[in-house]
Amino acid sequence: MNIAIFASGGGSNSEVIIKTLPKLLEERKREGKITLVLTNNAKAGVLDIAALNKIPTEIIEVKNKQEGELSNVYLDILSKHKIDLIVLAGYLKKIPALVIQAFPQKIINIHPALLPAYGGAGMYGLRVHEAVVNAGEKQSGITIHFVDEVYDHGEIIFQATCLLEEGETAKSLATKVLALEHSHYSNVIANAIV
Ligand code: GRF
Repeated sequence: MNIAIFASGGGSNSEVIIKTLPKLLEERKREGKITLVLTNNAKAGVLDIAALNKIPTEIIEVKNKQEGELSNVYLDILSKHKIDLIVLAGYLKKIPALVIQAFPQKIINIHPALLPAYGGAGMYGLRVHEAVVNAGEKQSGITIHFVDEVYDHGEIIFQATCLLEEGETAKSLATKVLALEHSHYSNVIANAIV
């Protein structure tokens, strides 16, 4: 099972996954290897992490491409690296429908809130946590789900929650939720590999 990580930014989840997934797979006696890190952002921190860990990388140019052309760019790269499973870790570009259809239940995403609430287009980064805090929610958390053609909609695999405290801000909540992501994402990916 060849695994690709797609990430657009800092890549803290990618870093944790790269560090911890191999051991988790070994413990479960499951075959899997991270063989590609793909990004749409040539300055993404995840490229340095991949280089340090000797993982091949691909940088794709998403701008000014029609959906069909873009699908081919993704599909050619995925086929070249013989990818079986795609893990999205802070990947901010919409995956074209043709790619999703080629990888049914084989693309996993993590969202920093309890879907189906606080998801959908435009709900990323601090905006998610601002919405949760402004709504006066008592809890938030993470959702790990398969990706289908609707934003933040595919089958939910795993959720974990955290409580909002008195005076919680979007920033403090973001820190809490990111810690939850780091402690669970690798485990859920390892379990998804059969
Ligand atoms: C995470 O909060 C994740 O839930 C969201 O994007 C963020 C990525 O953070 N999809 P990082 O780049 O892994 O640090």
